[in-house]
Amino acid sequence: MTIATSLLLFGATGDLSRRMLLPSLFGLSADGLLHPDLRIIGTARSALDAEAFKAMAAKALEQFVEAERRPAGAVAAFLDRLAYVPLDATRPEGFSALAAEVGDPCRLAIFLSTAPSLFGPTIAGLAGAGLACAGARLALEKPLGHDLASSRAINDAVATAYPESQIFRIDHYLGKETVQNLLALRFGNILFEPLWNAGGISSVQITVGETVGLEGRADYYDGMGALRDMVQNHMLQLLALVAMEPPARLDPAAVRDEKVKVLRSLRPITGREVESHSVRGQYGAGSSGGQPVKAYAEELGRPSDTETFVALKAHVDNWRWKGVPFYLRTGKRLPERMSEIIVQFRPVPHSMFGDAAMKPNKLIISIQPDENIGLQMMAKVPGLDRDGLKLRAVPLDIGMKNAFADVRRRIAYERLMLDLVEGRQTLFVRRDEVEAQWTWIDAIRAGWAETGMGVKPYAAGTWGPSAAIALTERDGVSWHD
Ligand code: BG6
Repeated sequence: MTIATSLLLFGATGDLSRRMLLPSLFGLSADGLLHPDLRIIGTARSALDAEAFKAMAAKALEQFVEAERRPAGAVAAFLDRLAYVPLDATRPEGFSALAAEVGDPCRLAIFLSTAPSLFGPTIAGLAGAGLACAGARLALEKPLGHDLASSRAINDAVATAYPESQIFRIDHYLGKETVQNLLALRFGNILFEPLWNAGGISSVQITVGETVGLEGRADYYDGMGALRDMVQNHMLQLLALVAMEPPARLDPAAVRDEKVKVLRSLRPITGREVESHSVRGQYGAGSSGGQPVKAYAEELGRPSDTETFVALKAHVDNWRWKGVPFYLRTGKRLPERMSEIIVQFRPVPHSMFGDAAMKPNKLIISIQPDENIGLQMMAKVPGLDRDGLKLRAVPLDIGMKNAFADVRRRIAYERLMLDLVEGRQTLFVRRDEVEAQWTWIDAIRAGWAETGMGVKPYAAGTWGPSAAIALTERDGVSWHD
């Protein structure tokens, strides 16, 4: 794929665009990473002209890029790249004005950050205006449906104009450094892989904790809930990267083939199994960052049965992982913003030190707020003990911050935007992956509906309902804190 020289940004005046997309594109532009001719054409319903759009973009940069990262010259050069075309995507006639702004339609990247209901008409409009050439690539931002059927409908609509090789489905977690570092850790080191299976690992935990509440997204969030908002995409992608077989090459087909095998091996959780394998929670009043916060229903302004917390016990039914539980939990209004993966190894087969102090090794992969990789090891406590060696669990810390102190950290969308305009698909999600994810999620939701499993309350600022603790404790496992 050639490097794009036009980028069409649908939803250009929206929240994601202002917070993430424009700041990311600016970062790439300021560092000379974008093609010098790349023009960014914003489009949305708002009747702005180019100057007003540039003013909006300048404001977004002021708000979301640190002052020392935006020298005036770099900002001016970035704003020079911008154009704007107002568009009602449901009216096909508007697309010719858009096409007129695009230089070579075969060197075009399109980013759809709009309501999924607009995907169909937008694709038809783009194709009708000659913007579906073989070199064009199309990025789709979530939500890509709310269940398997709606996700298939979107994928079918998109496929009428763009083949899979030109589609870039975003899961912004794949743009995060530590998530990519999982590949480096597992396949760039000989150390872990021999133990990376049911023989060496007793359980895996994936936690994505957030302190925020509804953040003004009430309609979207209340219609989705934590399972569909976070597990269907980000958490299952993390699980797939932890559990997949080593791909032969770092290319889109090899990596995604391995991920999809994992997603298809997820044991369905159906019917009454949801009661022992899942926990749904909804936050009540409590505190966040030392401040009192309202209950979810109060924030929403009505009662709701939507889960703002979910915990799951999953299994990957294949040779490597048979019998190893993968515990997943995510929620809003938890005590910290903290995402991490804990790989718990099996205990030593025999301990000559006495069992009391022995703790199994744990690999702790912190994704945010700080990226780090640590290993819990047993070490001798210094001293002159008469009755044998005294051992204690101590962290072996890779200290990513210091190891890469001189390297600037990028936000996830910088990586993804660069790959989009340059045509690299490895960090984007393939159709079969999304559909395997939905298949697993739909079964859980059907189980919830069938059993009438409601949400359990938890106080804002706590780690979810106590049932989430019981979910792992029953197996003799504790959530890592
Ligand atoms: C989004 C969800 O996909 O991810 C949000 O829709 C969530 O609800 C966000 O807050 C979390 O992303 P991050 O990068 O802040 O962990």
